[in-house]
Amino acid sequence: MSKASVSAADRKAYIVTGPTSGIGRLAAIELAKHGMVILVGRNLRKLDEVASVIQQKKQLAISIACDLSDVQSVRRAAAEIIALNLPIAGLLNNAGIMQMRSTTNALGWDTTFATNHLGPFALTEALLPHLPDSARVIFVASGVEDPKRTPAKAAGFRGGRFISVIASTRGEWQPGGSSNPGFDAYATSKQCILAATMALARENPRLRINAIEPGFTPNTGLGRDANAAFRLVANYILPLLAPFIRYWSTPKRASRLEAKVLTNQSGQTGIYYDERGESMLGSTLVQDRGFQDRVVAETRALLSSV
Ligand SMILES: NC(=O)c1ccc[n+]([C@@H]2O[C@H](COP(=O)([O-])OP(=O)(O)OC[C@H]3O[C@@H](n4cnc5c(N)ncnc54)[C@H](OP(=O)(O)O)[C@@H]3O)[C@@H](O)[C@H]2O)c1
Repeated sequence: MSKASVSAADRKAYIVTGPTSGIGRLAAIELAKHGMVILVGRNLRKLDEVASVIQQKKQLAISIACDLSDVQSVRRAAAEIIALNLPIAGLLNNAGIMQMRSTTNALGWDTTFATNHLGPFALTEALLPHLPDSARVIFVASGVEDPKRTPAKAAGFRGGRFISVIASTRGEWQPGGSSNPGFDAYATSKQCILAATMALARENPRLRINAIEPGFTPNTGLGRDANAAFRLVANYILPLLAPFIRYWSTPKRASRLEAKVLTNQSGQTGIYYDERGESMLGSTLVQDRGFQDRVVAETRALLSSV
């Protein structure tokens, strides 16, 4: 934990995962205008750098170490956050990865699925009982989960390829997926966390649980393990074309959207916001309540075995 004072407990507190890069970094800095920010990430040095940017503006931030691909690390982080006894107004599940080549975590689970679905789900479930009524929870999803999303198809995605939660941990996806296996892991992880968002919103009407698709946002760290040619296109060429690409956004715009939805005082819950802050629909599968409940039940069963 950084040296920031946690004594101003009368202020609202906002939890942000993945505040060390891209959209999350700017969202954390924006949210610090509204209250104390609890920065949750895997690299304490990077967290403390963001905390010091916030503290230099006489705003409050503290750092909590948490590797979202590791369930035990997530549980330790949740316990640390709970022990702070702060008035949590919002939880922004922003952290995520998109790997070009799949890797596995210490348990042998697909790292993308663990980081993008299991970790945020476990963190949220651990914190839920400690959130006051009307607190806000956001999951950052992605439109690539929808196999019908045309620009995502053009980029090589084939939508979520869900078989089961267990199969996803093994990196097994429905046949007919992307030629890039990392894309199937990413799309399926986002499909699961989006489905879980809708189920959790129904289960917890006292809270405001929503999802965001930030839009196609170049110049973040996403896909950072890609080869040099891919990164050249993503970081230098696509940004030039981005204004002409549907669903385009920028890190600044996307971060403002995350902060706006997290601090929004309206009672809306179970909404999936697009990059303009308007309500959108997920894939046909995600809209199916049976699928939403199945994902949550299988995820809980898996996590309870760890
Ligand atoms: N950029 C887009 O076009 C786009 C589109 C749709 C959705 N999204 C989603 O938007 C969110 C933010 O992405 P971004 O584009 O801003 O990417 P980014 O710049 O790579 O930021 C990702 C953040 O997640 C953190 N993170 C990664 N793995 C983690 C782990 N195991 N434990 C804890 N933190 C971890 C990173 O920490 P480190 O600094 O330590 O790596 C970083 O702070 C992600 O959920 C992404 O899937 C992005």
